[in-house]
Amino acid sequence: MEITFLLNGETMRVTAQPTTTLLDWLRNGRGLCGTKEGCNEGDCGACTVMVTDDSGAKALNACILFLPQLHGKAVRTVEGIAAPDGTLHPVQQAMIDHHGSQCGFCTPGFIAAMATAHLAGRTDHDDVLAGNLCRCTGYAPIIRAAKAAEAQPSPDWMQDTPPAVETVPYAPETLDALAAFYAANPDAVIVAGATDVGLWVTKQLRDLPKPLFLHRCTDLQQVEVTDDALHFGATVTMTAVLDVLRDHHPSYAELVRRYGSDQVRNAATIGGNIANGSPIGDNPPALIALGAQLHLRRGDALREMPIEAFFLDYGKQNRQPGELVTGVTLPRHAPDLRCYKISKRFDQDISAVCGCFNISVVEGVVASARIAFGGMSGIPARATTVEQALIGQPWTQATVDVAAGSFSDDFTPLSDMRASAAYRLEVAQNLLHRYFAQSQGQAANVLEVSA
Ligand SMILES: Cc1cc2nc3c(=O)[nH]c(=O)nc-3n(C[C@H](O)[C@H](O)[C@H](O)COP(=O)(O)OP(=O)(O)OC[C@H]3O[C@@H](n4cnc5c(N)ncnc54)[C@H](O)[C@@H]3O)c2cc1C
Ligand code: FES
Ligand code: FES
Repeated sequence: MEITFLLNGETMRVTAQPTTTLLDWLRNGRGLCGTKEGCNEGDCGACTVMVTDDSGAKALNACILFLPQLHGKAVRTVEGIAAPDGTLHPVQQAMIDHHGSQCGFCTPGFIAAMATAHLAGRTDHDDVLAGNLCRCTGYAPIIRAAKAAEAQPSPDWMQDTPPAVETVPYAPETLDALAAFYAANPDAVIVAGATDVGLWVTKQLRDLPKPLFLHRCTDLQQVEVTDDALHFGATVTMTAVLDVLRDHHPSYAELVRRYGSDQVRNAATIGGNIANGSPIGDNPPALIALGAQLHLRRGDALREMPIEAFFLDYGKQNRQPGELVTGVTLPRHAPDLRCYKISKRFDQDISAVCGCFNISVVEGVVASARIAFGGMSGIPARATTVEQALIGQPWTQATVDVAAGSFSDDFTPLSDMRASAAYRLEVAQNLLHRYFAQSQGQAANVLEVSA
């Protein structure tokens, strides 16, 4: 495949296999070994680079970023963060001044993440660096360095302009072209953010004989906010979803803030998180609790369905060969929605259980209830028996106690490395109690409770 992009200010025209990762190409193809390989699966941030496209600069993990995804973008690696004359970037100088590096293995990834955030004027350093692991320095000096650099302007050389490029067959630019290609080539493998597909290659050593990249299709990147609905095109990244949700669904936004890391959210798309059918994806439970509608397209044929109807069985979705997920529409207002993510680590971890509750109470009686869980069965699913035990009942502790007993009628969870079946069932019940406690004005979030 022919790929054109900017690398540290220099135009690259590369012919490469579709599954060549940026990390491998930098280290083995260009001898740029500053960008490190730690986990090779998006978890450690050692391979962080800055990538600029029309929507701005973002930190991405080079280990799960295929070269064709860079067509028309600009990449800046740690080698391009100091000025060409060697003048250090403010975050580099601050890391020296504040002793932010010991063995140094993680440091290029931290520098790339920090310099990208510095360019955007971000000061939420804990969130920015949640995807960068350091095993020896400890985070306090690194955060001190990030804070110290805040006052300095971002150097001019950090401003990259993505190059103008030709249309390429592997990445259609309109939805019409994309849908026509996929309908005619249903054996193609769609690559959106590659936060799943990347691992098929780096961990399962799979080939992608016929990849179809979505990142050039601007029709799928649209966000629409109307009086009563939000619409996300399928390739809206989780970072962009988070930006919109903060104003409309703060609890769902808090769930997404804990989705992977900044680097993962900058790549992962909402459509990919739905289309992969994972039972532990974070968006589906929230979208089911909201009553969202999913949009699909095969050639010129459009379909729409309540999102829960998409998940048929483990690994099986209501999607025909050659049919794309094109987007999702959700209500703009749902003041009763609360989303809870239970995972072993607070940041950068997949949910063991994710419970989302949308229960409305009118004059003390439950008028409607939509409760959805991830991690409780082979698909994200509603707790319909619990819902029925609540609807029409007074919204009291006694009602909640009875309804919580019905989770075992709705779900028979599995035991796996994330949690045991018994733990999952107990957590589901406890989350209903937590929702009730919050509805009574009690602080129930670990970030809110104090001794
Ligand atoms: C380090 C790390 C941390 C993670 N943390 C979380 C987390 O906290 N919560 C969570 O939910 N997930 C998490 N994930 C999983 C991952 O981010 C999601 O599953 C992701 O949303 C997939 O989206 P993508 O755009 O990267 O999809 P891709 O990897 O590009 O594709 C995923 C699958 O969906 C298909 N596909 C993609 N888009 C479409 C479309 N529009 N139509 C039809 N098929 C399509 C692809 O062919 C593929 O089968 C994490 C992943 C990593 C690597
Ligand atoms: S090497 Fe760990 S995130 Fe890329
Ligand atoms: S300085 Fe050693 S891993 Fe961070």
